[in-house]
Amino acid sequence: MSIPLLVGIVLVVLYVRWWRRKLTELPLPPGPRPWPMLGNLFDMSLKEMWLPATKWAKQFGDVVYVHIFGQGLVYLNSYDAAVDLLDRRGNIYSDKPRLVMVQELCGLSNMVPFVRYGDVARRQRRLMNGALNTRAVTTYEPLFESEVQGLLQRLVADPENFIGSIRQYTGGSTLLVVYGYRVRSSQDKLLKLADECMTLLSTKMANNVGIWPVDVIPALKYIPSWFPGAGFKRNAEAWRSLMQEFVDIPFEYVKQNMKDGTAGSSYCSILLEEMPKKAEQWILEQTDTDIRWTANSMYLASIDSMLTVLLHFLLAMMQYPHVMRKAQAELDAVVGRSRLPSFKDRMSLPYIDCIFSEVLRWGAPVPMSLLHRVMEDDVYNGMRIPKGSLVFPNVWNMFRDESVFPEPHKFHPERYLNQVDEATSRRMDPRGAVFGFGRRKCPGSHLVESSVWIVIACMLATLDISKPKDEGGKEIEPDITFENPVFRTPSLFKCSIRPRSEEAFRVIQQSI
Ligand code: HEM
Repeated sequence: MSIPLLVGIVLVVLYVRWWRRKLTELPLPPGPRPWPMLGNLFDMSLKEMWLPATKWAKQFGDVVYVHIFGQGLVYLNSYDAAVDLLDRRGNIYSDKPRLVMVQELCGLSNMVPFVRYGDVARRQRRLMNGALNTRAVTTYEPLFESEVQGLLQRLVADPENFIGSIRQYTGGSTLLVVYGYRVRSSQDKLLKLADECMTLLSTKMANNVGIWPVDVIPALKYIPSWFPGAGFKRNAEAWRSLMQEFVDIPFEYVKQNMKDGTAGSSYCSILLEEMPKKAEQWILEQTDTDIRWTANSMYLASIDSMLTVLLHFLLAMMQYPHVMRKAQAELDAVVGRSRLPSFKDRMSLPYIDCIFSEVLRWGAPVPMSLLHRVMEDDVYNGMRIPKGSLVFPNVWNMFRDESVFPEPHKFHPERYLNQVDEATSRRMDPRGAVFGFGRRKCPGSHLVESSVWIVIACMLATLDISKPKDEGGKEIEPDITFENPVFRTPSLFKCSIRPRSEEAFRVIQQSI
C-alpha cells in the first residue's frame, strides 16, 4: 500500500471519529422532560395525537423530540422544517420503520405506505406516477363527471345515508380507475371488504400507534402460535388471510376479464397488457406483485381520505351558510341553473377553488401525515436527529399558524383571494402539506384534485346543505369527535341535504 493512500485512509477514519464524537455532543431537539426508560410514554395520546404535539410546538418550537422506551419521535411543526428535512434531505428521510407485526406477520410488507425505502419503493412509485400524473388524470375526468351524477341522485333519494353515498363515490370511482370495476350499490362486496380491511388496519393492526411488543423484540415472532401469550400470532394469521383476499380478489377479477376479453381500461389492465410476454419468470412475478400491491394501496388509501375531506366540506357548509350562498351565486352566474358544472368551467370558478383549498386546510384530513424514518444521523440547526428516529410533519400546526392563516379556526375561503408574495402563497397553499412531503408524498394528489373538486362544485350547484332541525324547529349543532389515529374523520353527524330548487331537482334526475 502506498504511503499517500495510507495517510488518506487514516485521515478519513480520524474525520469520521471526530464527526461521530462531535455529533453526540450536539443536543437533541427540545421536548417535554422524559421519564427514565419509559421516556414520554405518559405524554402521548392515542386520540387526536396532533393536539399534544401542537401544545409542544408552542412550548418548544419548530422541531420537538420525544422518546418512548428509547424510540425517538421527531415532530416537525413548521412548513420550513418539513421542507428542509423531508423534501431537501429526502435521500435519508424517506424510509419506513421495520414493523414485524404488520409487515412480516400480517404480510403487508408490499403495501405502499409500509414499504422500506429502496428499489421496491422506487419501482412502485414509478408505476403509480405513470397512472396518476396530471396528464393521466385528465383522461379520468369524464368518468368522475358521470360518477358524480349517480352520487347526486343517491343524495336526493336517501339524504340520511349521505356517508354511504359518498363512500360509494370515493370507493367506486377509485375501483373504476384502478380495476375497471363498477360499483352498483353501497352494499357492493368490494366496498364492504375495503371497509372491513380499513377498520382492521386502523383499529386493530395499528393498535397503540401500530407498535407491538414483537416490533420491539423481533425474536418473539418465532414463538409458536399455540404458546400462551402468542395471541398476536393467531390474530396475525387471520388478518393476513383477510388482507390477502382484499389484495387478490379485484386483481384476479381484472385478469379473468382480460382473458374473457371483457376488461375495461384500467390501471391494472393497462400495466398487465404492457407486461413483457417473454421475460424471465422472476421479472414477470416481480411486476405482477408490484401492480397487485400498488393497485390495492391506491384503493385503500383513497376511500377514507377523500371521504374525510368531503365530510369536512359538509360540516363547513352547515356552519358557514354565507359561504355556500356566495359559491352558489358564482355557479349560477358562470354555469347557469340548467346543467351541472363540468371541468371546463373550473377556470371561471375561482371561489369554488378557494372553498376546496379551505376545506383541505380547515379539515386537515391527515393531521400528522404518515411517519417517515431517518436512515442516518443528521444535524439540523445545531440539533442532532438520531438515525432511526420516526419523523412526523405536524400538518395540523402548520394549518393553524396564525402568521400565515389569521383566525385559523375560522372557515374563510376569501383568505386565498388576497394578493401575497410568492413565498407566502407557497406556504398558504394547503396542497403543499396536506399530501405529505418528500419522496413518499401522496401519489394520488392529482386524482383528488379532480375527483373531489367535481363533487364540491356539483353539490353546491344543486343542493342546499344545512344543519338539521329538531321537532321544535331548532337547529341541531353538530357534535363531532375524532376517533381515528391517522385520519381526522369526523364521527357520525346529521346533515340536511335538499335540492336547491325544482330546477336543480330536474337537473339531477335528468343526468346520466
Ligand atoms: C384527499 C385525499 C387524500 C389525502 C389528504 C391524502 C394524503 C396522504 C398523505 C398525507 C400521505 C403520506 C405521505 C407521506 O408519507 O409523506 C399519503 C400517502 C399515500 N397516498 Fe394519499 N391522500 C389522499 C388520497 C389518495 C388517493 C386518491 C390515492 C390513490 C389513488 C392515494 C394514495 C396514496 C398512497 C399509495 C400513499 C403511500 C405513499 C408512500 O408511502 O410512498 N392517496 N396520502
